Amino acid sequence: MMRLLVLIAGLLALLAVAAAAGGGFAERVGVPAGAAYVGSQACLDCHDDAGTFYQHTPHSVERAPIAPGSGAGACEACHGPGSLHVEAGGEGPIFGRAALSALDAEDRAEMCLQCHQDKRLAWSDSPHAGSPTDCAACHTDVVHGGGSAQAPSAFRIAGEFCLQCHAAQAADFRLPFRHRVLEGEVSCQDCHAVHGAAPAAEPLGDLNAACLNCHTEMAGPFLFEHEAVSAEDCTACHRPHGSVNDKLLTQDGNSLCLQCHFEPGYPTIGDVDHGGFLGSEARCYDCHHEIHGSNLNPTFLD
Ligand code: HEC
Ligand code: HEC
Ligand code: HEC
Ligand code: HEC
Ligand code: HEC
Ligand code: HEC
Ligand code: HEC
Ligand code: HEC
Ligand code: HEC
Ligand code: HEC
Repeated sequence: MMRLLVLIAGLLALLAVAAAAGGGFAERVGVPAGAAYVGSQACLDCHDDAGTFYQHTPHSVERAPIAPGSGAGACEACHGPGSLHVEAGGEGPIFGRAALSALDAEDRAEMCLQCHQDKRLAWSDSPHAGSPTDCAACHTDVVHGGGSAQAPSAFRIAGEFCLQCHAAQAADFRLPFRHRVLEGEVSCQDCHAVHGAAPAAEPLGDLNAACLNCHTEMAGPFLFEHEAVSAEDCTACHRPHGSVNDKLLTQDGNSLCLQCHFEPGYPTIGDVDHGGFLGSEARCYDCHHEIHGSNLNPTFLD
């Protein structure tokens, strides 16, 4: 046990040296001359509210998560070294509201990423990166002062969490044909990587890869690819959230196909006269059934 403590103390000393070497969140904000870390236990004497807020979270003073780099934990990891502030009974400098709200988006994320390094690479690809919707805006149950949104843990259905801000998308998921997000069977995050996208799975782009995670039967590779799938993506024909059309199609009937395959000689398409094929009820994909690609037929017939 003792040896472990010595080892930990040694590691912390190393981290402190690393911090002194520069970089790190506090240095980016600007450490006041002479300020040092005093340990966040000291903050609790005067800041009851903050102490109570954090008590049952992984960011509590007791659990003292340590930021690699600075060696700071809990309050001081976000608010910077507090010695001058504590010594002056709260009158001394600290990274308060003014300093933290003046940070740009990248530095606000950096406040969190100093510990959550595993999110670092992915975050730059997130739809929210670089915007006011930063880490703290969503994680209001474990970070105070972030905003008014309710945190993910407040929702039984994952999608409801996102819809509190994306109300405009809610209607999509009530259409007759839809991904069953409001029913809790599919989540927004199955398609939108909230902490950033995984690297594209070649040769298909990100989007197809997200869809094909679940719809493996469309994955191919096929001997005869349909360029609408392989060169464009699933949204060339499907509305991903929901649609008034069966199978989430963007358009009903043959207009779906004719947006790309209409030619002046219609109903001749390519070399093939379709005049006899297109009876009143016949849809293109009744015959060209293997529309996502085929190993048997270059024109995707059954
Ligand atoms: C001796 C009492 C005392 C101690 C100890 C103390 N504070 Fe404060 N702190 C205050 C007072 C008083 C204020 C000013 C009133 C207010 O905003 O709550 C203040 C303000 C703040 C603010 C808001 C500043 C602003 O401009 O928005 C932050 C952040 C803060 N303290 C963090 C800390 C941290 C982190 C620690 C521990 C390192 C700590 N305090 C220790 C008394 C204290
Ligand atoms: C994960 C980062 C983080 C941690 C940990 C954290 N804070 Fe804060 N704190 C913030 C942010 C962000 C704000 C809001 C700044 C703004 O208004 O833009 C804030 C605001 C404050 C304020 C001023 C607003 C208010 O509510 O009065 C005080 C005081 C404060 N924190 C004290 C503490 C204390 C004490 C601890 C440790 C128990 C702590 N904070 C832990 C990020 C953090
Ligand atoms: C001083 C290091 C540190 C800082 C700074 C920090 N975290 Fe954490 N955080 C942790 C540790 C340690 C855990 C627990 C282990 C884990 O889940 O990775 C944790 C857990 C979490 C969790 C999971 C909560 C749960 O209930 O399981 C979320 C969400 C989170 N942090 C968000 C944030 C956000 C947002 C910020 C910035 C505003 C932030 N953290 C800043 C260390 C930190
Ligand atoms: C748009 C909202 C949103 C933003 C912005 C956001 N998160 Fe999250 N985060 C979530 C959701 C949703 C979960 C999943 C929670 C669950 O499943 O209960 C999550 C989970 C987490 C977890 C715990 C589980 C895990 O994956 O490790 C951590 C830690 C975390 N986020 C940190 C961060 C950090 C750090 C940032 C900023 C770089 C950030 N988050 C930005 C919504 C967000
Ligand atoms: C706190 C409010 C908030 C929450 C919660 C939130 N978002 Fe957002 N989201 C925004 C805002 C505001 C924008 C547009 C501006 C920006 O990038 O911040 C946005 C942008 C997006 C975009 C890009 C939209 C476009 O037009 O390109 C997607 C996709 C997205 N969010 C998905 C999600 C998902 C999925 C969740 C749940 C995991 C979620 N959001 C949770 C506020 C939020
Ligand atoms: C089945 C995959 C999938 C699911 C589930 C999904 N999305 Fe999307 N979403 C997409 C795709 C793909 C786009 C891009 C649309 C396009 O390019 O035509 C998109 C676009 C968006 C946009 C940009 C504006 C728009 O409507 O085009 C927002 C915001 C958004 N989604 C939020 C959400 C939210 C919130 C949820 C959950 C309630 C969600 N999405 C669930 C795949 C999905
Ligand atoms: C998390 C898994 C998952 C992901 C990711 C996903 N889907 Fe789905 N999808 C489903 C499930 C489950 C159903 C069946 C819904 C039902 O039966 O109510 C479905 C249904 C469909 C249908 C309608 C099938 C039918 O029989 O009516 C289409 C089309 C579809 N998805 C396309 C897509 C596209 C395009 C994407 C990517 C933007 C995508 N899916 C991403 C799980 C997923
Ligand atoms: C060229 C247009 C087009 C593109 C691009 C396309 N689809 Fe489809 N998809 C269709 C048509 C048409 C149907 C309906 C077939 C039917 O009803 O026989 C369909 C049906 C589906 C179904 C339901 C299958 C079933 O057996 O009921 C799923 C799931 C699906 N597509 C997923 C995808 C995915 C995933 C992608 C992207 C990799 C994609 N689609 C790209 C046209 C397309
Ligand atoms: C986004 C544009 C687009 C849409 C929508 C589209 N296609 Fe295609 N399709 C292409 C392209 C590009 C090719 C390859 C070039 C070519 O042969 O015209 C192709 C090839 C084909 C071929 C093979 C042609 C050959 O000469 O071997 C058939 C058959 C076909 N598509 C049928 C359909 C049907 C049926 C639909 C509707 C379900 C459809 N396509 C929707 C773009 C599209
Ligand atoms: C009754 C069945 C049937 C219907 C309906 C049908 N096709 Fe075809 N299509 C065929 C046959 C058969 C061929 C010739 C296949 C061959 O030569 O390998 C063909 C060939 C094609 C080709 C390839 C032309 C070429 O030059 O090789 C395209 C593209 C095509 N169809 C698109 C469509 C579109 C778009 C629709 C809807 C407007 C449609 N088809 C409706 C049966 C059908």
